[in-house]
Amino acid sequence: MRILVTGGAGFIASHVAEAYLAAGHEVHVADNLAKGRRENVPDGAVFHEVDILSPAFEQLMAELKPEVVNHHAAQASVKLSTLNPLGDLEANAGGTARVAEFAAANGVRKLIYASTGGALYGDPEYVPVDEGHPIRPISAYGLSKYMGELWIGLAGRTKGLDYTILRYANAFGPRQDPHGEAGVVAIFAGKLLAGEPCTIDGDGEQMKDYVYVGDIARANLLALDNGSGRAMNIGTCQGRSVNAIFEALRENVGSDAPARHGPPREGDVRNIWLESSLAAGVLGWRPQVSFDDGMRLSVEAARR
Ligand SMILES: NC(=O)c1ccc[n+]([C@@H]2O[C@H](COP(=O)([O-])OP(=O)(O)OC[C@H]3O[C@@H](n4cnc5c(N)ncnc54)[C@H](O)[C@@H]3O)[C@@H](O)[C@H]2O)c1
Repeated sequence: MRILVTGGAGFIASHVAEAYLAAGHEVHVADNLAKGRRENVPDGAVFHEVDILSPAFEQLMAELKPEVVNHHAAQASVKLSTLNPLGDLEANAGGTARVAEFAAANGVRKLIYASTGGALYGDPEYVPVDEGHPIRPISAYGLSKYMGELWIGLAGRTKGLDYTILRYANAFGPRQDPHGEAGVVAIFAGKLLAGEPCTIDGDGEQMKDYVYVGDIARANLLALDNGSGRAMNIGTCQGRSVNAIFEALRENVGSDAPARHGPPREGDVRNIWLESSLAAGVLGWRPQVSFDDGMRLSVEAARR
């Protein structure tokens, strides 16, 4: 089938595009290269350099008439969202609203949306967080991603647009930007390999759910034909501290460099991990790559 992947020159969606190509689909990538890189777009995908907020994107949707739209394009950093909250309103909430509207207008069979499990629920009342947990984001990023979900729901109810919403935990793995604002695994792996000091935000005991990017790509493959009208967490149900990540990476790199500690991050949820049994039931998805294997694969990729 013909699939348009937005944000496919970025970290996660380049793996999604790769998985769709491997499954024999015709893949188009739309990305404005704000953060993504042309070389991340897998061979075999058709690349369109376009901003989802521009009229050219509406035109592209009308010309391509994809069967499925997989929407990953976004400003993806919590830190940047605290500096420019209205930017997230435009790019993430507004961008997703546009994608949903154009999908409905062009007869798209299904929209798959990359939402966030880590930033959507806010500081959890309990862990692991399931989809029934109250939604109270504490960052403009989390709120803007949720607004995207709400708009997609509206397009579903009023225009019959089918969709699946995937709420990811913290993704990690090859092609994550080591110079980015987010993605502690890539940032620390890059710095340790370069012999540069790593700065841990706060005391480092904050615990998050780290899910390997290949597992996320597989969820997007399963969502092509499953999970209609549902929103579900995609995580491992396990919390790992930043200190534990740092230790695992030091071991894989073979470094004894000490860590520095900086101030805690504004807008960051302290402890969260995700219950993903809904995705297991609805998509048949379970994470397959262990934390240790994922750390090893990430360091190998950073070395390359
Ligand atoms: N990385 C994570 O841990 C994580 C967790 C939960 C959800 N997500 C979501 O997954 C998606 C991908 O995240 P990522 O970590 O791969 O980030 P990324 O920055 O690597 O990828 C986002 C891509 O979108 C592109 N983009 C941004 N604004 C655009 C616009 N207006 N028009 C066209 N392209 C645009 C960027 O150039 C980039 O290639 C995002 O929607 C993010 O909110 C990520």
